[in-house]
Amino acid sequence: MPGDRLSGLTAASISLFEAGKEDFASVEGLEDGLGPAFNGVSCGSCHSIPALGGSGNSTETRTARRDGNTYIEPAGGSLLHLFTTDPRCQPLLPVNANVFARRLATPLFGAGLIEAIPDATLLAIAEQQRRSFDLVRGRVAMIRDVASNTMRAGRFGWKSQHATLLAFSGDAYTNEMGITNDLFPNEVGLGLPAQQLAMCDTVPGIDDRRDPVTHLRGIDLFEGFMKFLAPPERLPLSPAAARGEQVFANIGCARCHMPSIMTGPNANPALSNKPVRAYSDFLLHDIGTGDGIDQAAARGGEMRTAPLWGLRFRRMLMHDGSALGLDPAVQMHEGEAAGSRMLYRFLPPGDRAALLAFLSSL
Ligand code: HEC
Ligand code: HEC
Repeated sequence: MPGDRLSGLTAASISLFEAGKEDFASVEGLEDGLGPAFNGVSCGSCHSIPALGGSGNSTETRTARRDGNTYIEPAGGSLLHLFTTDPRCQPLLPVNANVFARRLATPLFGAGLIEAIPDATLLAIAEQQRRSFDLVRGRVAMIRDVASNTMRAGRFGWKSQHATLLAFSGDAYTNEMGITNDLFPNEVGLGLPAQQLAMCDTVPGIDDRRDPVTHLRGIDLFEGFMKFLAPPERLPLSPAAARGEQVFANIGCARCHMPSIMTGPNANPALSNKPVRAYSDFLLHDIGTGDGIDQAAARGGEMRTAPLWGLRFRRMLMHDGSALGLDPAVQMHEGEAAGSRMLYRFLPPGDRAALLAFLSSL
């Protein structure tokens, strides 16, 4: 079931998962350091469909300015904070912003498996695409991982902006909730200078402190919960869906939405050398849907190949939810995906129905 943990975990991993799950759902308040600017009061408030750790149906706004080829990000980042704990710290839209992007929350099921894919595997996939004769040219998002302070292949977020769940937890805790932590120590609020934020900050310094007994921080607990969330199980393949999977490969969808990638050797046997059936290459592609935001290694036009596992639980599709169904989502593919989109349009009705049956089984 969505929200369950991986099987084969040790007792220690299970208790970390359970403690993490509780913290992921728990609502934070002023005394925990919430705000001054924030978008949600718990991780679970945005990641809850169809179970805790899932996706969300509301979008977040990012904004920036683009002058020709020059991308200008507002101080403190492109994320607009919707709420504030103090009216003196109401985030402001930059007056000259001309890029507005909306993004849905991505689901976290199977995230530990995604994290366990070696960088070398993603680099090899990009190299193989570069040598091919079609339009598909994925790029590895090489980013500095703040958790390990090393250059890593990003794979989380619509822009593959993070490589590790610890780094994403730190980013989300500060940027979504205003709860500063060792990895993201500064309060942020779109358009607000540091002195103004300091004036509204109820808990100065690092908000996410270690528990005196377990020595764990909130970000360690979130990491533990997400790492051990099981991937979404697909439905048993009907004959139509089985045929649809063939069509999916034949028209080139599987070039980016790769059916399976292996994790590498891992200290945790539940994550070691396992297939990751996510239907993604986790690379950046320009398929003409880009949101105009430069982020980490990604350019405005590039987005991560959306993993398709758990697709049947999702309602609004594409990063901004602008596709209200599978057919509209596929029809939006242009750029690097124009070849397979064209083949899709020419599919005989039976094959197209089979393809959609396959997608609905994921
Ligand atoms: C206000 C809504 C909101 C809250 C609160 C929130 N998130 Fe998210 N989350 C998002 C959105 C939106 C994305 C997609 C971000 C992007 O790529 O721009 C996301 C993406 C993620 C991802 C990337 C998963 C993937 O594979 O792409 C992780 C990990 C994550 N969130 C963890 C957390 C954690 C941990 C917390 C709590 C500290 C949290 N989130 C709180 C909205 C939220
Ligand atoms: C060149 C790489 C590439 C190819 C080829 C490709 N896709 Fe995609 N696909 C993407 C990217 C990137 C996104 C995310 C785009 C966004 O959100 O703006 C995406 C998104 C999707 C989504 C929406 C998923 C979600 O969670 O919102 C579906 C469904 C989908 N693709 C199906 C297909 C099908 C079916 C084909 C074959 C006809 C195909 N794709 C071919 C890269 C590709």
